[in-house]
Amino acid sequence: MKNFEYKNPTKILFGKGQIESIKNEIPTGAKILLLYGGGSIKKNGIYEQVKTALSQHEVIEFGGIPANPEYDILMEALKVIKEKKVTYLLAVGGGSVIDGTKFLSSAALYEGEEPWEILTNKIPTKKGMPFGTVLTLPATGSEMNSGAVITRKATKEKLTMGGPGLFPQFSVLDPEVIHSIPERQLVNGITDAFTHVLEQYLTYPAGAFLQDRISESILQTLIEVAPKILKDPRDYTAASNFMWSCTMALNGLIQKGVPTDWAIHAMGHELTALYGIDHARTLAVIAPSHYQYNFEAKKEKLAQYGERVWKISEGSLEEKASKAIERTEKFFNDLGIETKLSEYTQDYEGTAEEIAKRFRNRGWEGLGENQNLKPEDVEQIVTMSY
Ligand code: NZQ
Ligand code: ZN
Repeated sequence: MKNFEYKNPTKILFGKGQIESIKNEIPTGAKILLLYGGGSIKKNGIYEQVKTALSQHEVIEFGGIPANPEYDILMEALKVIKEKKVTYLLAVGGGSVIDGTKFLSSAALYEGEEPWEILTNKIPTKKGMPFGTVLTLPATGSEMNSGAVITRKATKEKLTMGGPGLFPQFSVLDPEVIHSIPERQLVNGITDAFTHVLEQYLTYPAGAFLQDRISESILQTLIEVAPKILKDPRDYTAASNFMWSCTMALNGLIQKGVPTDWAIHAMGHELTALYGIDHARTLAVIAPSHYQYNFEAKKEKLAQYGERVWKISEGSLEEKASKAIERTEKFFNDLGIETKLSEYTQDYEGTAEEIAKRFRNRGWEGLGENQNLKPEDVEQIVTMSY
């Protein structure tokens, strides 16, 4: 096991009726900016619950943060924060609203000229404006981590940011919010969380038995609850296990002491930036080719994953590893998620070259757990995903 440091300061308020507790988490003198997305919270009762909980607080609102939070829209929210002298941010939404809020937390205290530099220059946020979240869509883990992904349509870019100052102070995880989530977003959430675990687990053996088993248990739980959630999003036991699995998949715990990959996300983000494909679906497009292409480097963990998660007991190590990739792709397909780029766009010719060029320009010369995936390799993996 590698050396590590671990600190996660986010307070989790889990369960039915917990939205009410936010009134105790936000200082009474705070001037709050409530941030939300396209309006789903106004149809499913979450907005009402939040407003009731904050009836004794001073709250102003900013809605309209789109999926894949857009820089230009966030800059409008930043103006409101400055003009109205906001002191506390509250995100009510999925990963997009929470990530947008993290950007604003950082940008509100940023002293440079153009906050986009936080992303292009990879400036870590040591201190941000305090914020909390009410999670409405289990998927990204953003509610308990310090990372964010921001999109800029004008330049077709989607870049990451983060830092120790960007953990939410608290996050409410009420599994009852799941009942109103459309199926498309539910399967996205399952796929995203599943791939988060794979990115931190399917590398090479590192003698981290506990991290491996925590990862495997999250994957097994997601596999178990996926059909139940899809059949009945009001199944509270399934919903609560789904929600907590998504948070645990990316709150930093399973990545401690182990090598991590994240190349699938790096390539996937480009597919969203270029074609607007849902984040989770880009991962399902890239993952099978990525594991196939890096088979030699990853086959031991692939076989372990096949044995322990998919119960593949027959065959050589290589055969088990191969079957594990097949089972993963089938899992995504069974959820209704297509795993080829050509199933999302007809305009895919040249994509691999474009992504490789972008990585070269950014100096991303060594992706993956062994830092040896070059833009030429990325080009081949993306081509295999057509
Ligand atoms: O905008 P509204 O009207 O609220 O509707 C949203 C949106 O259309 C809807 N929705 C959310 N909760 C709902 C609901 N509809 C009905 N009932 C509810 N309870 O779902 C749609 C998608 O929401 P979004 O927030 O975009 O989805 P998700 O949580 O999957 O977030 C995706 C974003 O997170 C980034 C992705 O790149 C993408 O931009 N990621 C963030 C990560 C992080 N910060 O750690 C890691 C991830 O790998 C990912 O990259
Ligand atoms: Zn993801």
